[in-house]
Amino acid sequence: MTVKKVRKAVIPAAGMGTRFLPATKAIPKEMLPILDIPTLQYIVEEAYKSGITDILIIIGRDKESIVDHFDYSIELENHLEKQGKLEELAEMRAIAEKVNIFYVRQKEAKGLGHAVLCAESFVGDEPFVVLLGDDVIEAEKPATKQLIEKYYEYENTVVALINVDDTDVSKYGIITGDEVEKGVFKINDMVEKPSLEEAPSRQAVIGRYVISPKIFEVLKNTPPGKGNEIQLTDALLGLTKEESVYGYEFSGDRYDIGNKMGFVHANIEFGLRDPEIKNELKEYLKGLDLDKF
Ligand code: UTP
Repeated sequence: MTVKKVRKAVIPAAGMGTRFLPATKAIPKEMLPILDIPTLQYIVEEAYKSGITDILIIIGRDKESIVDHFDYSIELENHLEKQGKLEELAEMRAIAEKVNIFYVRQKEAKGLGHAVLCAESFVGDEPFVVLLGDDVIEAEKPATKQLIEKYYEYENTVVALINVDDTDVSKYGIITGDEVEKGVFKINDMVEKPSLEEAPSRQAVIGRYVISPKIFEVLKNTPPGKGNEIQLTDALLGLTKEESVYGYEFSGDRYDIGNKMGFVHANIEFGLRDPEIKNELKEYLKGLDLDKF
């Protein structure tokens, strides 16, 4: 049996974003920008550069700005054309034309696992990628592409792993596994947001996954867990009972933009990479009088 091609991606963006209030009261967390680009656009571009052709974005109420962002904006385009800003015009068009983007509403924010379950009929019987907007990854080879390559090698679910400090274990799904090659672990346990005492390791799952379609059957039988939400972590643990699930320590710089510090980190470092502002920003940072604060 030849392994099916990974061509579909799911981006859950229906969370409440409570850690980023009040910014997220009327604006989805995924539309907050790093410099001048909404985080969701980085995620869509990563999927595209990883060979994904079809993306389903799971949206909640008040998420129309997401739909508008990836649509044509005739008024704005006319305006830019009149001003001779053709580069911006081309950029706007390119986003809308790169991939097929579909939307579905998660009617209630019942957790990440529940959001992924909303993608069942879009995904069908194919392996698929899940990308979370909280994690923005800067890598020479896109993180999703690295994971897809491991999926083809192992022909089973692969999730992205990082090592975290003791203080951070309670923010992630934590795994234990047997190392089968450098950086690749066959997972045998997974706990969602454990306390330091409960945490079986310091290996955390972050927001990139290539998942076998079998997950949908498991998700349907996964009861609400931590926070009374249906947890993808619990379903992935359930999946390990049916198929192998691997974790992969991908390479790249990852920014957790779901919290204030990570968001500031990302903006500074993306600024330091931006040809237009990097020199000025470097001078500014060098000259900062830190004692003033
Ligand atoms: P998070 O728990 O980080 O997102 O979920 P949140 O709920 O928006 O944030 P806080 O904790 O309240 O600040 C991870 C991802 O899953 C999506 C979120 O949009 C985010 O991208 N999600 C979460 C859903 O799509 N639906 C849900 O019911 C929960």
